[in-house]
Amino acid sequence: MSGTMSEKKQLERVREVFDAWADAGRAEGMEEGHAIAAREAFGRLELEPGQHYLDIGCGNGYSVRWAAERAESIQAYGLDVSAKMIARARAQSEHLPNARFIHAPFPIRELKARSFDAILSMEVFYYLENLEWGLLSAARLLKPGGRFACVVDYYEENVASHGWPKDLSVKMTLLSAEGWRAAMTDVGFEVLEQTRIKAPLSANEEPSWKHTEGSLLTVVSAPWRETPKSARA
Ligand SMILES: C[S@@+](CC[C@H](N)C(=O)[O-])C[C@H]1O[C@@H](n2cnc3c(N)ncnc32)[C@H](O)[C@@H]1O
Repeated sequence: MSGTMSEKKQLERVREVFDAWADAGRAEGMEEGHAIAAREAFGRLELEPGQHYLDIGCGNGYSVRWAAERAESIQAYGLDVSAKMIARARAQSEHLPNARFIHAPFPIRELKARSFDAILSMEVFYYLENLEWGLLSAARLLKPGGRFACVVDYYEENVASHGWPKDLSVKMTLLSAEGWRAAMTDVGFEVLEQTRIKAPLSANEEPSWKHTEGSLLTVVSAPWRETPKSARA
């Protein structure tokens, strides 16, 4: 699929927003703000030495560094459509020869099918113009039985997030927790777990959606059978 006009427009806008965020130092703000949920999601992947890891929409690449630091034999990749995010990710990962970054939009055809054991995506998949195609593409990249941990803060039950598309002038797909499960199973994933990761409330802190609703984590595994024909490169 070469991408429709509306997909290209969406990607352009996403790139513009996140290049500006990278310039404003907000990549590191996201790293800090997403750390609790991202750590939980990363843990669910049970990444082992010798495996291949991918972060889709990696921002400044913090999770790629977690993976690369775990073992030299892990091949860790991060992909992002924002050149400025990728520049930050590369600059912060120079000490890690097993951390690599790809500046490209997802879905991407250039990566080999069935080449990753584990995929993480933190706060990205609702930006995809064609969510079903994105999920099929993630399934295509995973080895049979490989895991995908997908976290979203923008979801139906988190009412506080509903204004974000308007605030950012970016299209986002709003699904409920059940909707995310269904989207995953529709493309052949098996849902292993779905949970909300809530931040602990510290002293003198005002409660926000981070404490009351939390981040929605869905962990799935790739089918052992053949990837659907429509998702093959
Ligand atoms: C909310 S930020 C999250 C960044 C990072 N995952 C984190 O936790 O800090 C979303 C990121 O996804 C990237 N992104 C959004 N849509 C994308 C797409 N279709 N392909 C590649 N990257 C995308 C953006 O450029 C941005 O860096």
